[in-house]
Amino acid sequence: MHDLPVRTHAGHTAPVLQVEALTLAFGGVKALTGVGFDVAPGSITAVIGPNGAGKTSLFNTISGFYRPATGRVLFEGSDITRLPAPKRAGLGLARSFQNIALFRGMTVLDNIKLGRHAHLKTNVFDALFYAGRARREEAELRRDVEERIIDFLEIDHIRHASVAALPYGLQKRVEMARALAMQPKVLMLDEPVAGMNREETEDMARFILDVRREWGITVLMVEHDMGMVMDLSDHVVVLNFGQVIAQGTPAHVQADPEVVRAYLGAGDVGELRRRLRGDASGMPTAPAAMLAGAT
Ligand SMILES: Nc1ncnc2c1ncn2[C@@H]1O[C@H](COP(=O)(O)OP(=O)(O)O)[C@@H](O)[C@H]1O
Ligand SMILES: [Mg+2]
Repeated sequence: MHDLPVRTHAGHTAPVLQVEALTLAFGGVKALTGVGFDVAPGSITAVIGPNGAGKTSLFNTISGFYRPATGRVLFEGSDITRLPAPKRAGLGLARSFQNIALFRGMTVLDNIKLGRHAHLKTNVFDALFYAGRARREEAELRRDVEERIIDFLEIDHIRHASVAALPYGLQKRVEMARALAMQPKVLMLDEPVAGMNREETEDMARFILDVRREWGITVLMVEHDMGMVMDLSDHVVVLNFGQVIAQGTPAHVQADPEVVRAYLGAGDVGELRRRLRGDASGMPTAPAAMLAGAT
């Protein structure tokens, strides 16, 4: 099932992202308690768990929207726990959102172009001297990157369409395009196939694999669709009530009794086991939001 060309260098290369003992609370609600795991470079790492487990809170903490009470986030070995979100994006940590965060009145192309701002020089001194040929060369380089992304995600036909007019699955793809326009080292996707039909889900699964295979980008995703998680991931981290209850290969976590128990409230156990195992076909099969309702 996992005969994909994987660029991990297991055991030999330092993790690209390290999450250490993160604790985060909203008033009395402990969203995260002592959450820790490593993301290997070139891996597809998935964070799963029932609704309210803390997955989005974890993503917001890693990308800099929330400050943890305790714990650290390291990116390429450097402590980024106190770094503002845009600085993290500039270092190469890009993300998409569970609820699409595109500028709906703008075109697909303009939304993708916004991704570049993570790399633009912004202070006045730079602006004064950063002109002429250098600026033109960068503009050309940027256009080239954008064209490659548009081509890669097969969205050429909608480049001038208004985002608001697009079906949901295509909007999710545009959001991925914008994140890729930041030329990230790590791409974080919060529920990339939630709300998608089967065909859209299979397309997105293919794009996620290709992002890693063709562009060498590490993927960290939160996802409800267990078939997809089990088929795509090298490493799975299971959250429940804000704590890591299991982590390892898909085979390891799906055999873990505590993981099965964590999902017990969601329905029939036999059905659950089948879904945790994914489908033997090797392609993502199940519709989104199987184990718990999409949020
Ligand atoms: N901004 C917030 N304010 C207060 N409580 C929050 C906030 N965000 C999340 N929570 C709470 O933290 C817990 C984890 O939520 P969340 O991270 O959204 O879980 P998941 O993404 O796994 O469904 C839940 O109990 C949720 O109600
Ligand atoms: Mg969530």
